[in-house]
Amino acid sequence: MSTWANLGLQDSASPLMEQLIFFHDHALLILVMITVLVGYLMFMLFFNNYVNRFLLHGQLIEMIWTILPAIILLFIALPSLRLLYLLDEINEPSVTLKSIGHQWYWSYEYSDFNNIEFDSYMIPTNELANDGFRLLDVDNRIVLPMNSQIRILVTAADVIHSWTIPALGVKVDGTPGRLNQTNFFINRPGLFYGQCSEICGANHSFMPIVIESVPVNYFIKWISS
Ligand code: CUA
Repeated sequence: MSTWANLGLQDSASPLMEQLIFFHDHALLILVMITVLVGYLMFMLFFNNYVNRFLLHGQLIEMIWTILPAIILLFIALPSLRLLYLLDEINEPSVTLKSIGHQWYWSYEYSDFNNIEFDSYMIPTNELANDGFRLLDVDNRIVLPMNSQIRILVTAADVIHSWTIPALGVKVDGTPGRLNQTNFFINRPGLFYGQCSEICGANHSFMPIVIESVPVNYFIKWISS
């Protein structure tokens, strides 16, 4: 989760988030290079004394500054497309979790084992434990096995919500009447925090998500108890 002064992305806990961070850095690098180049050119314009009264066209330079940006855009578009399809891929999941957005809490269903269902409410500040995270902790956490492909199905019961876990690179809208699907792979144990990210009403800010990532045998123990 994000802590003080962390203005960038959170550390990734899944291969897809790692790829997203690589792509972000790649795109940012290109952006910085363009900004520096254009900034330099604009700055140098102040000191330019050359005037050409008879200049009407410059075919060569026009060709260059049309084609070059198009090529630069390709260097962003192709990796972006690769990521898009990678994020959409479902790799034979071993667990399916269904999460339903409500005003204003999430409910979860583990339909492939024992039909476990539960609601997950934020813990209000006045009931928070000393080591709890304000506006982020919930009463019932999702428990998921690490090092396994997990499919998540997201929907909503009332308005649009969005199931978002930054560290895992997951962000799926829950829309009434629809069932959205995505998948992820958690590559380390720990707690992963997320929040709803569709403006869904008065308590939009107060329906966080907590994933407890545990080794597979712990998960089996949890699911069978
Ligand atoms: Cu649910 Cu915002």
